[in-house]
Amino acid sequence: MTQKNKLRSQDWFGRKDKDGIIYRSWMKNQGMPTDMFDGRPVIGICNTFSELTPCNAHFREHAESVKKGVLEAGGFPVEFPIMSLGETLLKPTAMLFRNLASMDAEESIRGNPIDGVVLLTGCDKTTPSTVMGAASVGLPTIVVPGGPMLNGRYKGQTIGSGTHVWKFDEDMKTGKMTQEDCEFAESCMSRSIGHCMTMGTASTMACMVESLGLTLSGAAAIPAADSRKKVMAQLSGRRIVEMVKENLTIDKILTREAFENAIMANAAIGGSSNFIIHLAAIAGRIGVDLKLDDFDTLGSKIPLLLNLMPSGKYLMEDFYYAGGLPVILNELKDKLHKNIITVTGKNHHDNIKGNTDCYNYDVIAAYNKPFIPEAGCVVVKGNLAINGAVIKPSAATPALMKHKGRAVVFESIEEYHKTIDDPNLDIDENCVMVLKYVGPVGYPGMPEVGNMALPKKILEKGIKDMVRISDGRMSGTAYGTAVLHVSPESAIGGNLALVQNGDMIELDVEKRLLHLHISDEELEKRKKNWSAPKPAATRGYVSMYIKHVQGADKGADLDFLQGSSGSVVTRDSH
Ligand code: FES
Repeated sequence: MTQKNKLRSQDWFGRKDKDGIIYRSWMKNQGMPTDMFDGRPVIGICNTFSELTPCNAHFREHAESVKKGVLEAGGFPVEFPIMSLGETLLKPTAMLFRNLASMDAEESIRGNPIDGVVLLTGCDKTTPSTVMGAASVGLPTIVVPGGPMLNGRYKGQTIGSGTHVWKFDEDMKTGKMTQEDCEFAESCMSRSIGHCMTMGTASTMACMVESLGLTLSGAAAIPAADSRKKVMAQLSGRRIVEMVKENLTIDKILTREAFENAIMANAAIGGSSNFIIHLAAIAGRIGVDLKLDDFDTLGSKIPLLLNLMPSGKYLMEDFYYAGGLPVILNELKDKLHKNIITVTGKNHHDNIKGNTDCYNYDVIAAYNKPFIPEAGCVVVKGNLAINGAVIKPSAATPALMKHKGRAVVFESIEEYHKTIDDPNLDIDENCVMVLKYVGPVGYPGMPEVGNMALPKKILEKGIKDMVRISDGRMSGTAYGTAVLHVSPESAIGGNLALVQNGDMIELDVEKRLLHLHISDEELEKRKKNWSAPKPAATRGYVSMYIKHVQGADKGADLDFLQGSSGSVVTRDSH
């Protein structure tokens, strides 16, 4: 297809005046021939590479593959870095900076002579942040997921990123594992390039963008170390040039139907509960009205078709060999909307044609023979979570789905750490653990502490799970009966802040209920005596964040970032 319209990059490179000299000349110091500025599509390669984001540390190679593809298709590739969010190192939590990174992506794309953008994403927040930023600009956009690590192997057993961290931690506590064993296991777990290879948040995000239609078909599950990942990157480079020529902008792909497809696919793969918060934030940018209840209505009845940790036993490498996401999309074909388009310009149904064979039914189940009949995240509400809270039944204990227990309250994460293993702590396995002030405003940034470890004295009895409630999140690699994202959060006066030791709490997943058994009068009395904690910061980004962050039920985006500002910039820099 030939280029019909003048591209926005020509507002920089096509100029015949002083500004044109400035825009072209400095670019030429990189050895770019004059004909690169002749009106061909300029493709931005938004790279979240960082050695401090180990999951994305191989992205320079992927960027080279994308560049090859862009050049082959007649485009002009330009790679640029943005803030990279590494889940393992960033304190207090990478989530605090997701919105900041999205602003970086948005302004970097809009302010530069870019006609289309390729997002190189991997570690959890690097996917939603870049997609949110790109959605607020609205150019043709394609995502290249960086790929999971190869399967972990430790002393003959398969181990998964994150999922086994929680297990090793428990084994260390109960003396089943030494420090030496643990350090050996660390190397066995992370033995190749790539992101967590469980169905943690990174894999969930990769599947999310594929099911939204933002990647080439089959991209999500290819391991980072597999040469076919580079092929996928190169083909994506070719395709984005065509997308620019077709003016296939991101808003044409991210329709309400695309979001609904992603919710159903996420349920079928046992995706992370973090999916909810990130998809809601992306919807807010693109103007799709997605409510928390939609995740339950559309996803909770979808069966679990993928046997991956933490919900099952396999890992992403096995998912790829079994056929990857195209097989899942094929199993869901009667449920998914067909009136959508993806980055190919076609719908999923057309994209996956010829790639729907399942090669291992123990990894990917048929729709009518699922691993669990109903798998998607459930939204519970009640006086403890008026705007809702979420729970992921596929990672929880069925017997605890209906439970009433005595609250054991931790007023802060510090109090939890200080007291959890105290032998005198008044707690047993029937209690409900409540953790306050770990929401977006409270922590700040809503960290993944919602699956707080059980007390040592309970673990020693062989008990592995209890009901836990918080306004925080849970790692996608984690498991347990954790009620998460309680909204409104405790730091802004949500009723979670008012729970006291000894209160009875009822969780009934089937009835979608989370109820604190105290009277309205008592609740009102406690509310009057409650005072908000001191703000977590009084200057800088964090101060702005806590003033503007929305509730978890709305995706925890900053209120002023909702929507799009388009791609037009009228004024020049000189
Ligand atoms: Fe980066 Fe899990 S820590 S994907």
